[in-house]
Amino acid sequence: MGSNNKQVILKSYVNGSPKESDMELKASTIELKIPEGCNDAVLVKNLYLSCDPYMLGRMKKLDGHYVDSLTLGAPIIGYGVSRVMESSHPDYEKDDLLWGFVGWEEYTLITNLTTCFKNPTQRRMAGMTAYAGFFELCTPKKGETVFISAASGAVGQLVGQFAKLMGCYVVGSAGSKDKVDLLKNKFGFDNAFNYKEESDYNVALKRYFPDGIDIYFENVGGKMLEAVLNNMRIHGRIAVCGMISQYSLAQPDGVHNLFNLISKRIKMEGFLVMEYYHLYPKFIEMVLPHIKKGDITYVEDFAEGLENAASALLGLFSGRNVGKQVVVVARE
Ligand SMILES: NC(=O)c1ccc[n+]([C@@H]2O[C@H](COP(=O)([O-])OP(=O)(O)OC[C@H]3O[C@@H](n4cnc5c(N)ncnc54)[C@H](OP(=O)(O)O)[C@@H]3O)[C@@H](O)[C@H]2O)c1
Repeated sequence: MGSNNKQVILKSYVNGSPKESDMELKASTIELKIPEGCNDAVLVKNLYLSCDPYMLGRMKKLDGHYVDSLTLGAPIIGYGVSRVMESSHPDYEKDDLLWGFVGWEEYTLITNLTTCFKNPTQRRMAGMTAYAGFFELCTPKKGETVFISAASGAVGQLVGQFAKLMGCYVVGSAGSKDKVDLLKNKFGFDNAFNYKEESDYNVALKRYFPDGIDIYFENVGGKMLEAVLNNMRIHGRIAVCGMISQYSLAQPDGVHNLFNLISKRIKMEGFLVMEYYHLYPKFIEMVLPHIKKGDITYVEDFAEGLENAASALLGLFSGRNVGKQVVVVARE
């Protein structure tokens, strides 16, 4: 018979802008037991699911992308925090907490644990992304000027706080007045602006960076990147973390102003956080004392229940989320 297992499945591959109708909430059942002979597996109860912009790439039918397309009719896959109910894997026991790829469903049988970690202590992905992109790629120095786009989001809010701890001058852009207030009043940015109210990003950046930008933490791409290139300083660094303004476009924008890379000897480098997970202990060593002292804070946006998961994920692409978007499947 099995137990009820609500799932959010991918109904059709995304074409252009993602729609809620690309996903479907489905009632299914699952045996809450690891099947006979299924070694090295764990059965988990999913507690929290992470909504991340890269998931849109997996919801499209793309060849040669850095992540595989999801399977139609199967649950959306993403990072989650789950409780182990049963284990046939030597590293996991009943009641352990697990962080890794799980289905968007109440219970998941995980047969491949290579992307999973035990006992998640921190928000591993956004934190590691901010840490690796800022410290490893941007090599910040005290007194440098730092600009962050999508600055109030899961990654951006941490980059800004890391930059302040380094003694940098930090400005962020975000898409609403409330987010701008958050950047200035909660995360301690020196300044912030609402990019939706700016008709010319060049003018906006000159206002906040009259002497130019040393470090740009790129989350959005498009016109903002073009304007930043014009406002970079000599030997500036750009960590290309994401380009969310491009993800829903059938034809991505081209980028003007690239000659600045040569004339100003700018280092512009893309990265993927998964290549930096080995730095996790270093990240924790750096960040934990600051969290304990209260000088790093984190804002999360919780959507309650799998019923609200699809709209929470789509909210990332219209800026509805304030901080890290999480779906609560169960509070145990
Ligand atoms: N390289 C990696 O390994 C890695 C890992 C994680 C994330 N990322 C990238 O990092 C970026 C931020 O991710 P996140 O998880 O922290 O998400 P997030 O910032 O929490 O959420 C996405 C935000 O992007 C902004 N946005 C949406 N559409 C936009 C548009 N057309 N133009 C400008 N801003 C737009 C919205 O904020 P506003 O209200 O401010 O517009 C939205 O809240 C994304 O580009 C993501 O792909 C990369």
